[in-house]
Amino acid sequence: MRLQKVLAQAGVASRRAAEELIAAGRVSVDGKVVREMGRRVDPETAVVHVDGSRIVLNEDLVYLALNKPAGILSSMSDDLGRRCVGDLVVERGIVEEHFEGGSRGRLFHVGRLDAETEGLLLLTNDGELGHRLMHPSYEVEKVYVAEVQGQVPRDMGKRLRSGIELEDGPVAVDAFRLVDSAPGKSMVELTLHEGRKHVVRRLMEHVGFPVQRLVRTAIGEVRLGDQRPGRFRPLNQQEIGSLYRSVGL
Ligand code: URA
Repeated sequence: MRLQKVLAQAGVASRRAAEELIAAGRVSVDGKVVREMGRRVDPETAVVHVDGSRIVLNEDLVYLALNKPAGILSSMSDDLGRRCVGDLVVERGIVEEHFEGGSRGRLFHVGRLDAETEGLLLLTNDGELGHRLMHPSYEVEKVYVAEVQGQVPRDMGKRLRSGIELEDGPVAVDAFRLVDSAPGKSMVELTLHEGRKHVVRRLMEHVGFPVQRLVRTAIGEVRLGDQRPGRFRPLNQQEIGSLYRSVGL
């Protein structure tokens, strides 16, 4: 298939605009910039980048953002019959073929949120991307909003950024800010690039502010926005490209 058609089909740009991208040297195939028009590529196998961002051409690959509600386990099935993400996938009629492990490969969740934690959870059947996103050496930045009891002191950000010793080793946040405060409670935002179990809850507990409600609002450049709890949405090419970039693909 011609490169400009492939780009148009992937939703990158109209065919005309795709031709301009190619002419401007902004498109590469298998690591080499392609400037000539009409270059034929195999969408199943070609590795195409636009402005350095990977464009996924394989239509069998699925990338979803879920706003996980509280009380739902981050698993695709549960032996004890507790409600889990796999149930939401089935109830929402999300590509059952993926869930059943059909020819396109199994859909899986990228990492976990605690059952009581809400917010952004990614699901994909792209093993290469998904496994890298979960691998500690590529830990992508994640943003959490936590509701805690009491008034958080002004120097909390400094303290959390300089690092806290937890029982399984030190942890430091990349960023911290007070989002809101009301009598007796505060809302704070923490940015971390690590994924140890219960890390945000343990961190805030350690500094004397146990978490009452926790929501993950971003993973890298993918944001939860106003997506409703329990709903899935497909990621767009820019979001997929940013995830690829963040794990060096
Ligand atoms: N930190 C937590 O404490 N819980 C989560 O679900 C994610 C990060």
